[in-house]
Amino acid sequence: MEMPAMPQPTFYMFKCEQSSPPGMPKPSCVNEMTKDLFNHLAQKMMEKGLMGPVQPIRTSCLGRCQMGPVMLVEPGHHMYVQLSKEKIDRIVDEHILGGNPVQEFLIPEQFWGEP
Ligand code: FES
Repeated sequence: MEMPAMPQPTFYMFKCEQSSPPGMPKPSCVNEMTKDLFNHLAQKMMEKGLMGPVQPIRTSCLGRCQMGPVMLVEPGHHMYVQLSKEKIDRIVDEHILGGNPVQEFLIPEQFWGEP
């Protein structure tokens, strides 16, 4: 069977969608206050016509829960922390469309560093 050619996405955006069960002491990226961030991201991408060339992906814990909500943008290992809707808008505009990662929203180097 022949498959039609599909271009690779330019970016993958891995948004942590982990929520802790009630009573868990550890923070998690999804709670009542942050549960609609992924939908906001998807909506912003649709508005900008980016769906396809950019792929938003729901993922489980990325291991930086204390700094959540987090989102990893590939290529480049860019880990964004303490996300909000406003930060997502700027990440899409400046990083995805503009090609410049938003330095002030990235995880501090001591918590990330080289792979
Ligand atoms: S719950 Fe999101 S990084 Fe752990």
